[in-house]
Amino acid sequence: MSSTAFQALFGAAPQGTASAPGRVNLIGEFTDYNGGWVLPLALPFRCRVDWQRRDDGTVSVRSREYPESMDSFNSQDEYSPGEQGWANYVRAVVAALRESGRAPGGMNLLISSDVPQGRGLSSSAALEVALLGAFASAFNWPLDQAEIAALGQRAENQFIGCQCGIMDQLVSAAAQAGTALQIDCQSLATEDAAIPEGWAIVVLDSNHPRQLVDSEYNLRRQDCEAAANIMGLANLREATPEGVRAHQSALTRGQFSRALHVVEENHRVLASAQALRAGQLTELAALLAQGHQSLVELFEVTVPATDTLVAIAKNALGNRVAARQTGGGFGGAVVCICEQDDVELLLAAVQQHYHQQTGLEATSFVCTPGRGLECVIHE
Ligand code: GLA
Repeated sequence: MSSTAFQALFGAAPQGTASAPGRVNLIGEFTDYNGGWVLPLALPFRCRVDWQRRDDGTVSVRSREYPESMDSFNSQDEYSPGEQGWANYVRAVVAALRESGRAPGGMNLLISSDVPQGRGLSSSAALEVALLGAFASAFNWPLDQAEIAALGQRAENQFIGCQCGIMDQLVSAAAQAGTALQIDCQSLATEDAAIPEGWAIVVLDSNHPRQLVDSEYNLRRQDCEAAANIMGLANLREATPEGVRAHQSALTRGQFSRALHVVEENHRVLASAQALRAGQLTELAALLAQGHQSLVELFEVTVPATDTLVAIAKNALGNRVAARQTGGGFGGAVVCICEQDDVELLLAAVQQHYHQQTGLEATSFVCTPGRGLECVIHE
């Protein structure tokens, strides 16, 4: 299907296809850029990039989601962001590859993605990682998963202007089916934490429009880095709750509360991974509830719509469900973990109460953890 579309657009069959998933983070929010731990898993939704090398240095990009628009630029020239928001990720990835000392040549690229966009589910990381897989395959660069993730993060930091950490790109590159990935964002060491038999991962998209995401996101990061600096630490990884409290008078209210969230959240990630491995849903429910509350009170990144979804889930299932807002914040999606037998009850409660309380409709996905980056050569 995609191959026929590629042929119609570019006049030849694609030489290869790379695809990478979006992600949902179970817990460990805003800890990645503080050298902490995270526990995401890959969604079954993927971004796919069909590619074909061209020898004139031009990168020509089409998207099946935006059939009316296209982008074209020379991979060797200096360029700035173009008019198409989606295509800027391609420009960003090519710029990151060049800055890393590689010389990406021309490519015809066709992007197609079923990762929900702008929902805190990392549609942009999926695109970056799939693009990097495409370029690595096309130009025979032996990039490992951590290098791909770091290049994707660099693309986002330098060209797009979002000072994100490495979680989204690393899980998109490295995830294994059926399991969450515990990542130490300092060493980039990863460890599986399989989803127990009979449990379900339910993603509830609030459909609340996400606004001011990048600017507020970057401000939170600045608060964290300033707090670490004032505490005399390279980052908040080594800080403890007691240490943060001892420095309270030297910190602004924002710096104090962001730092406290990060150090407590790191403990919650490690405890949650343990609870997941031991199949202890009640413990996990308590940890995610604390995590959500901390996003409300300390990191201040939730909105009434996601708070409402969490409350509806808790009212319906109590401590039989672990639920919290997931991702970069300011709306987006809520992740729920419960027994498969409870999914129907959960979705019925959302159906019954969410629209009535917020005027919005939620979209729900019951997800099986997907695989990371896959690259196929067709010739
Ligand atoms: C976004 C960023 C990640 C991470 C999360 C919050 O998804 O891209 O690096 O910081 O927000 O945990």
